[in-house]
Amino acid sequence: MIIKKVLVNFLCCFIPVKKIRKQVRKKFLKRNKVYEEEKKVSSGFVSAQAFIDDNVEVGEYSYICPGSRVFFNTRIGKFCSIATDVTIGASLHPLNFLSTHPFQYSSFYMGNEVNIGFNTFPETIIENDVWIGCHAVIKCGVRIGTGAVIGSGAVVTKDVPPYAVMVGIPAKILKYRFNEETIRRLLKTEWWNLPKEKLEKLPFSEIEECLKILESGE
Ligand SMILES: CC(C)(COP(=O)(O)OP(=O)(O)OC[C@H]1O[C@@H](n2cnc3c(N)ncnc32)[C@H](O)[C@@H]1OP(=O)(O)O)[C@@H](O)C(=O)NCCC(=O)NCCS
Repeated sequence: MIIKKVLVNFLCCFIPVKKIRKQVRKKFLKRNKVYEEEKKVSSGFVSAQAFIDDNVEVGEYSYICPGSRVFFNTRIGKFCSIATDVTIGASLHPLNFLSTHPFQYSSFYMGNEVNIGFNTFPETIIENDVWIGCHAVIKCGVRIGTGAVIGSGAVVTKDVPPYAVMVGIPAKILKYRFNEETIRRLLKTEWWNLPKEKLEKLPFSEIEECLKILESGE
């Protein structure tokens, strides 16, 4: 892996366009996998015993605790906290076919010819600064808005608005972290995209002060 990394990085030096360089690195240097030991991922980490499928993106500073599983075709934004034993984006099966079994759209089981399509993994999106509590389940294809909190044990079956606190089965809105105006202002700042040097100086526990600084663009 180290040799591959060195080689890809070396060859990338000869690609003049930054965007293409980034795409090549992304394609050949996959970082999100099943880890036997804790691994750093984009300044965050995926714990040992967490399972991360192919085609999963984990944004900067996000972390995923042991026992959690993130299925295929999931995007996780920055600064997300994912607790233990969380399931995100488990596959769909058809409810209105002859059977719910995948043999009907995958040749894997019977070696049969397959001519029916079924989208098993619609994209699941966890935006930024989302906290997901222990044992929560996030249905495949759902979008969880920035700043949302998913209570422990919740089963999220529908899209979640930004900064909503969700609990229960099926998950319902318990409350919002902030009032409507504050949420609007927070989303506008897109603070999660700021450089580390700016972020670390903010008075985190004083939300109004934070917003004033962020809005002043200082
Ligand atoms: C969702 C959560 C953030 C809410 O915290 P809170 O704002 O302090 O909420 P409260 O404890 O005041 O509870 C408010 C109400 O929601 C209910 N509630 C709280 N968490 C709940 C949950 N996970 N599932 C169902 N109901 C829940 C409470 O029973 C209470 O109901 P009531 O008003 O009928 O009495 C918190 O309970 C939670 O689930 N945290 C996740 C913890 C975790 O998994 N940590 C992992 C570490 S990374």
